[in-house]
Amino acid sequence: MTTRPPIAMLAELTHRCPLACPYCSNPVDLARQESELDTDAWRDVFRQAADLGVLQLHLSGGEPATRRDLEELVQAARDAGLYTNLITSGIGLTERRLRALDNAGLDHIQLSLQGTTPEMADEIGGYAGGYRRKMMVAEWIGQIGFPLTLNAVLHRRNLHQLPRALEMAVEMGARRIEVATVQFHGWALKNRDALMPTRAQAEEATRIVTEARARLKGTLVIDYVPADYHSDYPKRCMGGWGSTGLNVAPDGTVLPCHAAQTIPHLRFDNLRDKPLSEIWYKGTAFNAYRGTGWMPEPCASCDRKEVDFGGCRCQSMALAGDAAATDPVCVKSPHHSDLQSRAAAHATAADAPLIYRSVPGRATEPAE
Ligand code: SF4
Ligand code: FES
Repeated sequence: MTTRPPIAMLAELTHRCPLACPYCSNPVDLARQESELDTDAWRDVFRQAADLGVLQLHLSGGEPATRRDLEELVQAARDAGLYTNLITSGIGLTERRLRALDNAGLDHIQLSLQGTTPEMADEIGGYAGGYRRKMMVAEWIGQIGFPLTLNAVLHRRNLHQLPRALEMAVEMGARRIEVATVQFHGWALKNRDALMPTRAQAEEATRIVTEARARLKGTLVIDYVPADYHSDYPKRCMGGWGSTGLNVAPDGTVLPCHAAQTIPHLRFDNLRDKPLSEIWYKGTAFNAYRGTGWMPEPCASCDRKEVDFGGCRCQSMALAGDAAATDPVCVKSPHHSDLQSRAAAHATAADAPLIYRSVPGRATEPAE
């Protein structure tokens, strides 16, 4: 099998974040500020990424705006020839900073939406006043003219707000909205009783998205990640392991996906020790589930094996105890019916308190 260069790199500049979303995709063991790569180290990573063939750089976190050198990092990425996309909650961005990012060459912004009302958004984000601030940031983004994508993570508590989220995207002039039903990794796995949508909600969301796609054609592109615990086939996670993208954690650890460190037998290389190209092509973690040769049955002889690459390795690890197993979301998995019963049980559990993601020194109690 020939390994092609990656197209996209997600740089987790920091795990620090003023919000504390209970479905955060960061690992449960968050990287501390002292371990973060500094400006020069990131500059070097961006150059290496461009040399390797990466075209798009997603600057993420935590909240990337907590890095004081964000403008310098955007400039460095642009100097390396990368297309730059900032994934942000908006907290920490001022009009002045946004204009500086524009001058540094930032190409695109993805703004997260925790809810469509201040009450919902501030409860889910665990940050009072966050929604009001985000709306100001959205206005500045529009005035400056950044291309905008809205990122809405939906779950049992806020799925009824999907129609309004779509309207808001249009009102803000966003070109795209990502409607992602919560994926149960890391922090979200701790919150399944609170966040699991019901099957009826999941079906209604699919209906709303289908209708909105037809109605808003030419105005708004809608990317949709359905509730996979209620699906019959898994998603093609990361486009296939080690095939098109990679993540760099704040400390320089290079990962095939954001949750890869939940697979205990894998060893991950760090950019402080090895060049990016060597890690991508020769790293044991990247080669562990690349292509289809590693697949056991039923994936090995399935005609969808190059459609979904057996689903999500991290989900197989979390739910079947084996990262090489067929994703339990798949109807052909021996764990599928158990998963669907568990999904129904989580979805009808009494509302559990949210377990917020924590950082050292930050409270983890539910917001009042
Ligand atoms: Fe995909 Fe494997 Fe299920 Fe086939 S058996 S649909 S390859 S997860
Ligand atoms: Fe790791 Fe899907 S999140 S492979």
